[in-house]
Amino acid sequence: MPSGLAPIIPVTLKKDDSPEDLPQHLAIIMDGNGRWAKAGGQARVQGHRRGVDAARQATTLCGEVGIPYLTLFAFSRENWRRPDEEVHFLTQLLALSLEKELGRLHENGVKLNIIGDPSSFGRKLAKTIDSAVDKTSNNTNLTLTIALNYGARQELLTAARRLAESCVANELSPQAISESDLEGALDTHGLPDPDLLIRTGGEVRLSNFLLWQLAYTELFFTDVLWPDFNEAIFWDAIAAYQRRQRRFGRIGEQIESQSGGR
Ligand code: FPP
Repeated sequence: MPSGLAPIIPVTLKKDDSPEDLPQHLAIIMDGNGRWAKAGGQARVQGHRRGVDAARQATTLCGEVGIPYLTLFAFSRENWRRPDEEVHFLTQLLALSLEKELGRLHENGVKLNIIGDPSSFGRKLAKTIDSAVDKTSNNTNLTLTIALNYGARQELLTAARRLAESCVANELSPQAISESDLEGALDTHGLPDPDLLIRTGGEVRLSNFLLWQLAYTELFFTDVLWPDFNEAIFWDAIAAYQRRQRRFGRIGEQIESQSGGR
């Protein structure tokens, strides 16, 4: 928290206080780094540097309030279309940030998980990722999933191919394929679906992020640019989530009779 500022909501809330009111899985599309830098007359990459600080803050807040799953969209398959220098900078920044933060993540019980295909970033980053995932694999406080070279359509295609191969091998019959079979073939297998998605940066779209998993997720869009993400915006999003009534296809009266209706 910036010095001199009182917390917006004192961070004493714990998962067990009111677990039904907090999202258990928060997913974030961190957009607006480039525009943030440009607005301050800086090179785009400076926005990415500040973006890492914002990602650290989001992780800390989830840990403090007891949100056990956080998923960050750090690099999409489409991001390869950016200038080579920016892609190179992002690759270096991700490797450096991971090396720098690993100790603190591990001490705080954070389990690192990667979705997408990080092998395309070269052997150095892939090795750093492998050892970080390995080191933190038994941690249980917070699962931090970073989407790297990730695209939801590609993830679904790969899952469809896996299931087709199981059918060809007579391990599965096409008629018997269930939602949980498909979920088990996705990169996100083992993770609950996100309850809340935050997208910063003013765009109102999903950009090929977790298309299957976001089917019933509450969406929160803000014009705030990612480097300016802070505790106040975090709580704005949580408060918006808490005002929503999640019906999953049912009608409002059914929810109210079951839970007093949130
Ligand atoms: C979006 O801003 C951000 C990215 C493409 C990804 C980079 C994210 C970070 C460096 C945050 C840190 C993440 C981790 C997990 C360490 P943009 O460049 O698309 O911004 P623009 O829309 O203003 O151009």
